[in-house]
Amino acid sequence: SIPVPNVQEMVKKEPLQVPQRYVRSQEEMNKTIDLSHLSSEIPVIDFSLLSCGNKEELLKLDTACKDWGFFQLVNHGVPKEVLQRMKDSAAEFFELPIEEKNKVAMPSNDIQGYGQAYVVSNDQTLDWSDALIDIIEAYSSEVKRVGVELLSSLSMIMGMQKHELLDMHKELVQGFRVNYYPPCSSPDQVLGLSPHSDASTITVLMQDDDVSGLEIRHKGGWVPVNPIPDALVVNVGDVIEIWSNGRYKSIEHRAVTNKNKGRFSYASFLDPRDDVEVEPLDHMVDDQRPKIYRRVRYGDYLRQSMNMKMNGKAHVDVAK
Ligand code: SIN
Ligand code: FE2
Repeated sequence: SIPVPNVQEMVKKEPLQVPQRYVRSQEEMNKTIDLSHLSSEIPVIDFSLLSCGNKEELLKLDTACKDWGFFQLVNHGVPKEVLQRMKDSAAEFFELPIEEKNKVAMPSNDIQGYGQAYVVSNDQTLDWSDALIDIIEAYSSEVKRVGVELLSSLSMIMGMQKHELLDMHKELVQGFRVNYYPPCSSPDQVLGLSPHSDASTITVLMQDDDVSGLEIRHKGGWVPVNPIPDALVVNVGDVIEIWSNGRYKSIEHRAVTNKNKGRFSYASFLDPRDDVEVEPLDHMVDDQRPKIYRRVRYGDYLRQSMNMKMNGKAHVDVAK
């Protein structure tokens, strides 16, 4: 991998500088659509209703996955202190001097560690990292519980038995990444995270309650996902798009920065095992809906999408 500057350190030294390398064209920035005048906002789904099989809520989930690919999940039952501890300890970690953070730097060709991409460490040598890992584990096991329940709801709306979607993973693989976006003096010229879609089955994102930044592709524009305190943002990943033969879409999203406030987000990815062959489900294919995706081995697909320069949604293989 190519070494790039640490943005947090750069902003600390020269808060008003935005090097040319970070500046995007106006065309690339586009305009965020302000939907406040419309009633349409990213759907809000009530987890407690889903988990008792409420038909109306399942219908809402179906519409959310079809029309938006994203929804905010409330009443998920993750204890507030588990959410808060995750946030506090991540913030504490990012405040450490760069030398300390680099002690758990991500080796090249790895996805674990501190760096431009993924922050999760199994490194046991530092005191703080023991604490951080325990906290990540507590948070991740809650997210897994929520994720498994969501998979059974998705399984039902995809016309299968509750357990089938989970079974198709062979083993549910969980990834985790903390994003920190330092404040930027010219937020309208840079992106915190380039547009991309997630390779996962689903992604569960926790974001700060008081700073926005996540934007999703909707009807040709970028729509902000305004934080609802304690809600989790869930999105359909490429795997669901392929399994559902395009009924549900893995939507492009990006992160913008803020002038005065840094922002954290915490992404949990739920994935199939590497050796799962992902292709449209037979019952999602018929004369009206011909198969539109090629079969891919998930491990190859994931590696390929991670090695690509993040550049929109380019990697879902479309069948001939
Ligand atoms: C992500 O897509 O991994 C994170 C987006 C965000 O920071 O909201
Ligand atoms: Fe993402």
